[in-house]
Parts: sequence; structure tokens; C-alpha cells
Amino acid sequence: MRTVECAEFLQEALPELGLRWAGFRKVRGLVRKRLGKRFAELGLADFSAYRVYLELHPSEWHKLEEMCRIPISRFYRDRAVFASLERDVLPALAAEAIAQGRHELRCWSACCASGEEPYTLSILWHLRLASAFPGLKLRIVATDIDPAMLRRARPGCYRASSIKDLPEDLMRAAFERSGEQYCVRTAFRTVDFVQQDIRESMPDGLFDLILCRNAVLTYFLLSEQQEVMKRVIARLEPGGALVIGLHETLPPSGAGLASWTGARAIYRAPPAAETAPPMRCIAPHPH
Ligand SMILES: C[S@@+](CC[C@H](N)C(=O)[O-])C[C@H]1O[C@@H](n2cnc3c(N)ncnc32)[C@H](O)[C@@H]1O
Repeated sequence: MRTVECAEFLQEALPELGLRWAGFRKVRGLVRKRLGKRFAELGLADFSAYRVYLELHPSEWHKLEEMCRIPISRFYRDRAVFASLERDVLPALAAEAIAQGRHELRCWSACCASGEEPYTLSILWHLRLASAFPGLKLRIVATDIDPAMLRRARPGCYRASSIKDLPEDLMRAAFERSGEQYCVRTAFRTVDFVQQDIRESMPDGLFDLILCRNAVLTYFLLSEQQEVMKRVIARLEPGGALVIGLHETLPPSGAGLASWTGARAIYRAPPAAETAPPMRCIAPHPH
């Protein structure tokens, strides 16, 4: 299979799936490998044959969409982002929740792959922050479209390469060795994994913190990004934080958010509208 032909094919097919070629440039090798395997399964010689196959079997488009899901993730990906979460964002959100008399901080890790991102959050909270906010629980829901990713996420076992960016102390405290793998200890596996296509559904309720990184804003068509992010942003609590990928840009639907001061790729929803003080009815002064 020639690289050029694969690129040509993806440029014409991805928009049909609501996806954009620009996001796939760097990872096209992975998609190409999967397509090669699929061609062998179907006994097809080249992309012309595959185009005909797609026309005759429309359900193949779903298969193609599955082949375009990029599973890359790792613990503590983009350390500057997690450093900001630990130093500024989570403490501010936690203090705000406590001031409001709440006992739970709600987080959503959208397009969570095999759980590396939500587990990082859980580990960071439990080992570095929870003791400063007694009585406050971190609740994390993590969603992904791909059931195979979630099957890998739930037991929480990974190869050494997945945890290499984690600070040493967190790695030692949060993982136990199981043969060749490193497994997240039970105390940190406090994540609810739910299979959801973010284009169609989202977890219920509002969130203090949403991580939506390296999926929607990288791989989706700009029109889809705009539509999906509008709904994601609507799920933020007033004053809540949204984290995107370091190399991603918010579409115009994010215009109402402000950059989190001193942090990259982190935005803040406007605080709850200040309620105007009640109008005082001033009795006319008797003369
Ligand atoms: C590159 S990973 C990003 C993982 C993690 N957010 C991170 O930044 O490390 C992209 C993930 O998005 C998921 N995904 C792709 N399309 C999706 C959709 N429509 N709804 C939900 N998840 C989706 C893929 O299955 C994959 O696990």
C-alpha cells in the first residue's frame, strides 16, 4: 500500500466521517497499518477496490471510523498542564466548592482513551491535594467511544512506557508491579468509565473541571468541533475549568471562556452572575 495513495484516500474519506485530514497527518501511519490489515481480511488489492467496497457495503464506513480512532495517551501527558492543575486550578476549584458548602468536586475526562488521563487526575488529587481539603471528594467520570479502550482502562494496568512521565514519587505510591505491567492501586481507581460518543451524548450534570484533550479539537472537522465544544462548555459549572490539548485551539464557541491566568491550554467559565442586591424599598421620609 503506497503512502501517497493512503493520504489521498484519507483526505477524501475523513470529511465523510466528520474528521479532518490535518489532525491525522502525524498519525496516518497507524491508520495505514490498520487499513492494510483490513484489505488483507477482505482480500482487496488497493484503495480503488476499497472505494468500491465502501459503496457496496455502507456499514464499512463504521469500520473505517473505528480504524481512525487514535489511542495514544500516557500518564501525566503535558506535565505543564498537570503542574498547573495541581498548583492553581484544582486548589481554586476545591476552595470554591467548599465555600459553596459542597462535598464533591466533579470532573469529566472526555475521550479518555485507556484511562491514563483520569487516573493521573485521581492520583494527583489523592496524593498531593486531598489532605488540604478534608471532606471534599473528587468524583471523576471518564468517557470514550471505544469499548476496547474502556476494557483496558478499568483494570488500570499499563506498560512502563505509559507511566514514564509521572513524577517518581507518584509512580511509586500509585502503582504496583504485576509481571511486565504496572497497575494502578485500588485506592486510586475511583473513576467511573462510561462508553459514549461525544457527538451524541455526554455525562449528566455540570462539572467543575472538564478535560477534553487531543481528540475533538485535533481530529474533528471544524464545524463538528464548534458544535461539540458548545455542548461541552455548557457542562461547565460557573467558574469551572476546561483543559484542552497543548497544541489545540478553542473554536469560536469557546469565546465566553477566559484563559486561566498563568496556565497554558486551561480556560475558565465566567463565574455565576452576581445577583444584584435586592432593591430596598425606601419609605418616604415623613416631613
Ligand atoms: C488521542 S486519544 C486522547 C486521550 C486523552 N484525552 C489524552 O489527551 O491523552 C483520543 C481518544 O478519543 C476517542 N474518541 C474518538 N472519537 C470519539 C468520539 N466521537 N466520542 C468519544 N471519544 C472519541 C478515541 O477512542 C481515543 O481514545
